[in-house]
Amino acid sequence: KRTVILISGRGSNMAALIDAAADPAFPAEIVGVISDKANAPGLGIAASRGIATKVVTRADHASKEAHDEAIATALDTFGAEIVALAGYMRLLTTGFVEKWQGRMINIHPALLPSFKGLDTHQRALDAGIRVHGCTVHFVTPEMDDGPIIAQAAVPVLIDDDEPTLSARVLKAEHRLYPLALKLFAEGKVRMEGSRTAYSGFAD
Ligand code: GRF
Repeated sequence: KRTVILISGRGSNMAALIDAAADPAFPAEIVGVISDKANAPGLGIAASRGIATKVVTRADHASKEAHDEAIATALDTFGAEIVALAGYMRLLTTGFVEKWQGRMINIHPALLPSFKGLDTHQRALDAGIRVHGCTVHFVTPEMDDGPIIAQAAVPVLIDDDEPTLSARVLKAEHRLYPLALKLFAEGKVRMEGSRTAYSGFAD
């Protein structure tokens, strides 16, 4: 399945997906990376791995809608069948999300439905939880709210601070996201209403 990754920054999850998909047996092919930030470090990483990149900034478009339409056009140009958000730091318009619903996934650095939004690791530390993690989910118009595909848990250690905890979660993200993309691209998970349907696991 032709997959395009949307990023805004560092691109470490993007790199994990690109590396997993470099295996010819992987059911998704990364055909392009789109960034809304011209200076996103991930753009250089993608280019160095031979992946086509495109920058589509908000500032170059008159409205949020026009920005998302330009991204939609870029996705069509890439022939995208799957969109993977990987640190894309902008809320997509409902029209865009509805067009891609069931074909667009995201990774969030917390065990949803806890800690939607930003600053998840500090909030997890402040809440005193002892288990934290990350979630890959289908994207719906409401932020961090779509059906959960897969999750990975990590312990919160008693002497953790934000850097140590976020690093532990990030390592789990880099394992989880390729696994979840694989399950989706090979048709073992699909979005069915407000739930994820699983098939082809038992036999
Ligand atoms: C990750 O923690 C991801 O879960 C969140 O933003 C961060 C992006 O990091 N959505 P990177 O750009 O993938 O390195």
